[in-house]
Amino acid sequence: MTEKATLHLNGNDYELDVVVGTEGEVGIDTLKLRANTKAITLDPGYGNTGSCTSAITFIDGENGVLHYRGYPIAQLAEKVSFEEVAYMIVWGELPTQAQLDAFKVQLDEQAMLPTGIYDLIKTFPRDAHPMGMTQAVCAALESYSAPDADTNTHIISFIAKFKAITAALYRHAKGEPIIYPTSGLSYAGDFLKMMYARPGNDYEIDTAVEAAMNKLLILHVDHEQNCSASTVRMVGSSQASLYASISAGVGALWGPLHGGANQRVLEMLDSIKNDDDRTTADYVAMAKDRDSGFRLMGFGHRVYKNYDPRARILKAATDEVLNKLGVKDPLLSIAKELEQAALEDDYFVQRKLFPNVDFYSGIIYRALGIPVNMFTVMFALGRLPGWIAQWKELSDDPKARIYRPRQIYIGETKRDVPAIGERG
Ligand code: SDX
Repeated sequence: MTEKATLHLNGNDYELDVVVGTEGEVGIDTLKLRANTKAITLDPGYGNTGSCTSAITFIDGENGVLHYRGYPIAQLAEKVSFEEVAYMIVWGELPTQAQLDAFKVQLDEQAMLPTGIYDLIKTFPRDAHPMGMTQAVCAALESYSAPDADTNTHIISFIAKFKAITAALYRHAKGEPIIYPTSGLSYAGDFLKMMYARPGNDYEIDTAVEAAMNKLLILHVDHEQNCSASTVRMVGSSQASLYASISAGVGALWGPLHGGANQRVLEMLDSIKNDDDRTTADYVAMAKDRDSGFRLMGFGHRVYKNYDPRARILKAATDEVLNKLGVKDPLLSIAKELEQAALEDDYFVQRKLFPNVDFYSGIIYRALGIPVNMFTVMFALGRLPGWIAQWKELSDDPKARIYRPRQIYIGETKRDVPAIGERG
């Protein structure tokens, strides 16, 4: 359905097409704006700018709604496996039993890392940040992939290998021998085994931990055009490889304003716990004061102006997992106290700042034995299929163009180069 928008500029009226999405979202099509009006849009941070149309994920930020391929996140988190969600987010539909069985066999067959990748991991300093290592290894995977393989082969191989990469980074950092992938386990179960098994001993997968890991991975799979997914698309739009594009996405996710927030949340909660001089209320007050340099990490979102549905699921899962594991974490009560104080405070209410996916996830990761500096790698482990889906949707689009935004120049106008003695 193409409605029209009229722009009145420089004494002229211009008609612009309007695109309406399947969920009623409205976009003004500015593809020919500059050609027709000589003007561009200016939208630092892209808060009002759509880079694409997409059929992967729908978010209604005002109402706290998140659907992957039309399925509500709460249903997916409760009813299916990460493997089913990964399959669906990339290829569009939940797999039949036969498709799922075949996909799992392919994931098992492709799970082992090339020797060169294990060797690369061992060259990193043991205290290197796992996100830096992950970014490097993702790019390096290209060197060990079959260049003439078809896209689906690369996609399956990447998803299959990412859990072994994540676990190997952890084992390397701990100075522990690598545990290799085991066929026939769930994605979450094999990951846990590679992380925590003792060499030569049987490893019994705790089903409660496996279920929690499965849910955590599902909740992170995709989130439409977030910073890292847009980075993957940006790099992919130059027709760079899947590996180069994903590596760039890992770098974007690392930032504390994005996926790096889950690590910062735990560090924030820990410092609040250890601070004998200030109360939770003091920290909420600091968060409201721009000059304090303190931000309530895990709070606020560019799109959600309501409770992030993933945070709601994670908050409930945190109680459930910690009770099942018999873990008492004082940080959980601090987190709940902070949330309560913030949600009752005008500053947060007016700005519609709610807990986001990163606010509670770290407390569960910690209860599952994941070290704090690996929290963002865990985010990437879940997000990989979503990044791949975004990259594939762009790569499959015959009308896809290289991402090349414009700017409005505000620097010096033309001037002549002065001799060095005339400068300064
Ligand atoms: C993720 O995009 C996605 O979908 C991302 C993600 C995904 O799944 O991919 O959902 C994952 O990245 C979640 C967000 C994780 N980051 C954090 O938790 C870091 C803390 N949050 C903020 O830095 C901030 O809320 C952002 C980065 C998330 C959003 O930034 P925006 O949209 O640019 O909002 P803003 O910084 O312009 O804030 C608007 C107002 C400002 O106050 P005023 O200028 O109006 O006075 O809200 C204030 C901000 O100071 N504000 C906060 C705050 N977040 C926003 N004040 C205190 N604490 C905060 N956390």
